[in-house]
Amino acid sequence: MEVTALCFRLVMLELIFLREQVHNSYNQNRTFLRITPNRLQHFDATSVSFDCVGFVGLTHLKIIRNTEELNPSCDSKRTTSSCTMDRVYLEDSGEYWCESEGERSNRVNITITAGPVILDIPALPVMQGTNVILRCRSKNQSTNLGIFYKNDVPMHSTPEEEMKIENVSKSDEGFYKCHVSSIGTSPASWLSVGDQLFYDSNSKSLNVRILLRLAVTMLSVFLSLLVMGCLYFKKHKVNGEDVADDPDV
Ligand SMILES: *[C@@H]1O[C@H](CO)[C@@H](O)[C@H](O)[C@H]1NC(C)=O
Ligand SMILES: *[C@@H]1O[C@H](CO)[C@@H](O)[C@H](O)[C@H]1NC(C)=O
Ligand SMILES: *[C@@H]1O[C@H](CO)[C@@H](O)[C@H](O)[C@H]1NC(C)=O
Ligand SMILES: *[C@@H]1O[C@H](CO)[C@@H](O)[C@H](O)[C@H]1NC(C)=O
Repeated sequence: MEVTALCFRLVMLELIFLREQVHNSYNQNRTFLRITPNRLQHFDATSVSFDCVGFVGLTHLKIIRNTEELNPSCDSKRTTSSCTMDRVYLEDSGEYWCESEGERSNRVNITITAGPVILDIPALPVMQGTNVILRCRSKNQSTNLGIFYKNDVPMHSTPEEEMKIENVSKSDEGFYKCHVSSIGTSPASWLSVGDQLFYDSNSKSLNVRILLRLAVTMLSVFLSLLVMGCLYFKKHKVNGEDVADDPDV
């Protein structure tokens, strides 16, 4: 009786463990393009780094600039999967992504401005249900107090240090910008909201399928071992003194 209960508990534990594993692997970062500093907008003549994270094999950083697909020119730390531009210029604005054979990262629209104000908005999609903070940054640092706009509509009336969006949902997607009085307005950037942390839509289904197969294999192997173990102990017990303990026998 006790052995049966123990076996049952073990099976339940294993199921919970496996479910957790599948859930974690599904939610964790996959391949993605990391931008440092982590934002969509940058002042000209500053340094920006691009790293293709999580790729296997030969990986390339790509950019679409005025509908033309190019390999960006990197100053230092140049490998196929990472690139640092010591000084970015207006013409480095564009849509960046990483790709290797069969895998593609998220695409990121980077805006370089010669203007005096940028919006500090994360380069990677924000996960639903989390919080995000947008900040206004002026080039000469005199003040970072700004009015934030979503789709050209001001979100508040008095200038603020930052705009906090709590419990982010799809409805928060849109073009954001900020205006610092008597200094200037930042370019507008699209805030994108995702289901997971930096998921890759192309490889998601493939990864999940591989994972599920692995989980099922593990589960069946484990269950077989467990059943064998239970049978062994049960038999052992039956042959021992505890026969009366199990009413089925
Ligand atoms: C994903 O990556 C970011 C930045 O690299 C990190 O802060 C975060 O904790 C990671 N999340 C998971 C679930 O690994
Ligand atoms: C980047 O900008 C282009 C042009 O405005 C747009 O077509 C594209 O969907 C944008 N991509 C992302 C990831 O926001
Ligand atoms: C977050 O938003 C979702 C729907 O948009 C809602 O169901 C949920 O209760 C919210 N969570 C918190 C902590 O406000
Ligand atoms: C910053 O720039 C603004 C507008 O260009 C100017 O009015 C202000 O005096 C500058 N502040 C400093 C500290 O340079």
